[in-house]
Amino acid sequence: MSKRSDQITLVAGGAGFIGSHLCRALLDRGETVLCLDNLQTARPSNLRLLERDERFEFIEADIVNPLPLDVLERTWSIGRVYNLACAASPPQYQANPEHTMLTNVVGTDHLLRLAERADARFLLTSTSEVYGDPEAHPQHEDYRGWVNCTGPRACYDEGKRAAEAMAFDFARMERTDVRVARIFNTYGPQMHPDDGRVVSNLICQALSGNDITIYGDGTQTRSFCYVSDMVEGLIALMESEQVQAEPINLGNPNEISVNELLTHILALTGSDADVVHRSLPVDDPRRRRPDISRAQRLLGWQPRVSLEEGLAATCAWFAGEIDGGRVPRPTAPDRVRASVA
Ligand SMILES: NC(=O)c1ccc[n+]([C@@H]2O[C@H](COP(=O)([O-])OP(=O)(O)OC[C@H]3O[C@@H](n4cnc5c(N)ncnc54)[C@H](O)[C@@H]3O)[C@@H](O)[C@H]2O)c1
Repeated sequence: MSKRSDQITLVAGGAGFIGSHLCRALLDRGETVLCLDNLQTARPSNLRLLERDERFEFIEADIVNPLPLDVLERTWSIGRVYNLACAASPPQYQANPEHTMLTNVVGTDHLLRLAERADARFLLTSTSEVYGDPEAHPQHEDYRGWVNCTGPRACYDEGKRAAEAMAFDFARMERTDVRVARIFNTYGPQMHPDDGRVVSNLICQALSGNDITIYGDGTQTRSFCYVSDMVEGLIALMESEQVQAEPINLGNPNEISVNELLTHILALTGSDADVVHRSLPVDDPRRRRPDISRAQRLLGWQPRVSLEEGLAATCAWFAGEIDGGRVPRPTAPDRVRASVA
């Protein structure tokens, strides 16, 4: 089902971190983009950059509510629906857990029904959190997870699991052509400086000379994917004709400990800030690494930006954001500089 050039691509959550990079990439491909966002965790400056493009339109809307008339009236012209709407950082999604759950369940239902009426292809951004604190390592899509359904992360983890279940029901009943990406930790420019994710936390603390907070002893591992790689993966998945109704892991399989991440960031920022240890958050996963063999096989996709390159670009961007250039600005390598908006 290829997309006609006159069709609109709807991106819910398009003013957020990954969403704003995705909108930019879609515009660069010549697509017309309609962004829906309730601005809960969006950075307004992400939107201002996009609004310079006449093929970009923004509508402020919460997908938990019935979709605006302005969108419904254009149903016939929508060819693709990306759903990225949902706060991704634990402090943000836990601030209003009921809304997080409703965003994933009711909001996803609204967008799936829109895609069904429009005969549009639908992509859900799910998460590695569906694997919980995994017993299987690395995490393959067939692993069913170890998730606490009563803990403080459940509004997000179980919300995403429910959203996946609903998307696959729409696919099974041949109501909508569905794609599901299970995204692993993604980082890069245009993250919210204080949204509480590990990469932005450590960089901002290092650049501002504040104490650096490490939760637990820092031996817990993560695999960090640079945002331009993630966006390429999402578009490849949306446009793939090979993928059946099956989830696809997207992430970078290069696994490092939080302590190793900190060492890289201290070297890049020249920071000698003190490190303070705090207890690990409840249900924090100990290990995270995607098995991306399915994405490699079906999409021909794999990450291209190394951690060193991606972190340099991200530190350079944050240095400009948080301190107006008082701190020495690390240089972004040429290969990733283009994606630093
Ligand atoms: N960044 C990561 O490492 C990561 C990892 C796994 C999954 N994901 C998923 O990718 C998607 C994007 O993540 P992100 O890192 O860009 O997060 P983000 O918080 O920066 O962006 C989410 C966007 O969705 C909007 N939003 C939230 N609830 C909404 C609602 N009810 N209606 C309309 N808009 C709403 C927010 O205002 C924000 O602009 C999310 O669905 C997230 O679960 C991200």
